[in-house]
Amino acid sequence: MRFSLSTIVAVAALTSQASASLMSQYSTSSSFNPTELRLVQTEAGTEWVTEADKLELKRAGTNFMDITDHEDLGVTALLDMTNTTYPTELLFQDEVAPLIGNISTAAMKMNLEIFSSFFNRFYKAKTGGDSSMWLFNTVKAIAGVNPNVTVFPFHHAWPQKSLVAKIPGINAGTALDRTVIVGAHQDSMNLLFPSLFGAPGADDDGSGTVTILETFRVLIESGFQPNNTIEFHWYSAEEGGLLGSQAIFAEYSKRQIAVTAMLQQDMTGYVAKTLEAGEPEAIGVVTDFVHPALTEFIKTAITGYASIPYVETSCGYACSDHASAAKAGYPSAFVIESAFENTNPFIHSVKDTVDRLSFEHMAEHAKLTLGYVYELAYYNFTSPPVPASA
Ligand code: BES
Ligand code: ZN
Repeated sequence: MRFSLSTIVAVAALTSQASASLMSQYSTSSSFNPTELRLVQTEAGTEWVTEADKLELKRAGTNFMDITDHEDLGVTALLDMTNTTYPTELLFQDEVAPLIGNISTAAMKMNLEIFSSFFNRFYKAKTGGDSSMWLFNTVKAIAGVNPNVTVFPFHHAWPQKSLVAKIPGINAGTALDRTVIVGAHQDSMNLLFPSLFGAPGADDDGSGTVTILETFRVLIESGFQPNNTIEFHWYSAEEGGLLGSQAIFAEYSKRQIAVTAMLQQDMTGYVAKTLEAGEPEAIGVVTDFVHPALTEFIKTAITGYASIPYVETSCGYACSDHASAAKAGYPSAFVIESAFENTNPFIHSVKDTVDRLSFEHMAEHAKLTLGYVYELAYYNFTSPPVPASA
């Protein structure tokens, strides 16, 4: 399906979001070519479609990966980490407790207010590039106090960079070297008109972005030194069909990086619908298209580290960036703010704003993330677990 000019004009006229200044922004942004052909993979198979068709797929709720640039992701993978095992008991609750006490809802709020104030974070737009620069500088400022930590941008064919912050493990460079990843996506998108309309993306996925950023800050400020390598990833272009994360995992697969766990958090802040339904506030653990054993460990970590329970839910095929890790042969898991049916109804619009979110709920996700990182940082992935501090 293509957009005719009359559709474009009608949508613009009908929508109060459009203004003369935004129009000029549209004409100068690197923007959206509705007729460009892309290869997409849905649960049903692969097909060539236009960028406009991709928008239609999203609007219809059909999840897809845009595999144009990484058609053979996983096909030629030399590593298959999917037989990995995980801790069945938590060994670091005493060490993590003081770190949990350092989680700051004020820091998350301050960061999210800035991050969601970019007009949009559309990956093809200049503002999407600007927001990734802000995030890069913010992550670097946190890492700055620790000379071991590296922060690097991962460049793409569009303005918005993916970002990787790496805390090398003691095991780095040895046969025991393993990598544990925490991820979120940094881009946002207005489904009516990606290049033209605003998309504050406070929940999707500004919330996941600041949740893992806060976890990173608390760990770095504690002087954390893991055995396994820990990486924080902020993916570009998730909304375009998992483009940034596919590029990263294609590269990791090519370099034979031994990723034993990837936890994606996409939307961590909205609880209103859960509470209105009279249900208890809980972390949504996604159980479809995920690694079962890693997901079991995530449940154990929620029970041991968060102050609220979990609820099992599903999100569908290629719902977020964990699907790119899985396709590359890496175990991945996914948690969201609630049961799927209670998630934020305002995403992909101008209404995805900070005032609708709970920073206390984001803090629960941060607690889980601290527990996940700490437990896996010292887990011996190649033989029975031996805590480094024991
Ligand atoms: N954050 C959403 C996915 C989501 C929706 C998670 C509701 C939890 C609750 C994500 O950014 C998204 O929009 N994904 C696309 C698929 C993508 C591959 C194009 C989707 O779900 O349509
Ligand atoms: Zn999202």
